[in-house]
Amino acid sequence: MRCDVITLFPELIRSALGESILKRAQANALLDIQIHQLRDFAVDKHHTTDDVPYGGGGGMLLKPEPIFAAVEKVKSLRDGAVRIIIPSPQGKIFNQKMAENFSQDKRTLVFICGHYEGIDARVAQGIEIEEVSLGDYILTGGELPAVTMIDAAARLLPGVLGGATSALHESFEDSLLEHPHYTRPYEFRGMQVPEVLLSGNHGAIRDWRRAHAIINTQERRPDLLTEAVLSPDEKQGLPLGPCLMEE
Ligand SMILES: C[S@@+](CC[C@H](N)C(=O)[O-])C[C@H]1O[C@@H](n2cnc3c(N)ncnc32)[C@H](O)[C@@H]1O
Repeated sequence: MRCDVITLFPELIRSALGESILKRAQANALLDIQIHQLRDFAVDKHHTTDDVPYGGGGGMLLKPEPIFAAVEKVKSLRDGAVRIIIPSPQGKIFNQKMAENFSQDKRTLVFICGHYEGIDARVAQGIEIEEVSLGDYILTGGELPAVTMIDAAARLLPGVLGGATSALHESFEDSLLEHPHYTRPYEFRGMQVPEVLLSGNHGAIRDWRRAHAIINTQERRPDLLTEAVLSPDEKQGLPLGPCLMEE
């Protein structure tokens, strides 16, 4: 997976992606991250990248010229095969399906990180972009959303996580949240690990995990169940009643 990030704050990206699993993914050439300082594309001698909004109001906006220049440079470096994403609270909400879609895209993902009050609207007018939101709240910049999306997509790439199947049974796969997990000790402050997990009976463990994934989902995120594929028995056995699936 290839990603180019256009930002005023390269260190935010570098430090977040330069540790642990994603650091190893880059060292193993599974993930290629290129970071571009937006200021380097400014057209005046002061390297100005922001200005006041027409019509007044507080805050500053990122100017269009450096962004167009940065995108043109990245496009030329990547032979035009790019998919441009602007993190924005006004975009489509990011989710696991989008992460899968990003991880399978053969094009280079280019993230343009907004800051201050955002980006001059002519960027979205003149460049083919997708706006993607992390959720209904406002962050100070697009760097953390870009890092979040890259992380969520990159860990789905074959070979990035330690075990080949590590990402297969996680929350949101099959529209279910994950089942609870336990590690040693067997007993802690009077709380014991469910016996079935110690039984060595793989079929029983699989059934327990599936049942508890369904219970977890119905209790915490019943909205997901409308998309989940459940057997008639599983629907019948829903702890809060099958009717909740329709809500
Ligand atoms: C302070 S925000 C600008 C918010 C903008 N004035 C508005 O009300 O829509 C600055 C930048 O942070 C990023 N950002 C903030 N919240 C975000 C969110 N929920 N999802 C994705 N990006 C976000 C965007 O890149 C945005 O341009």
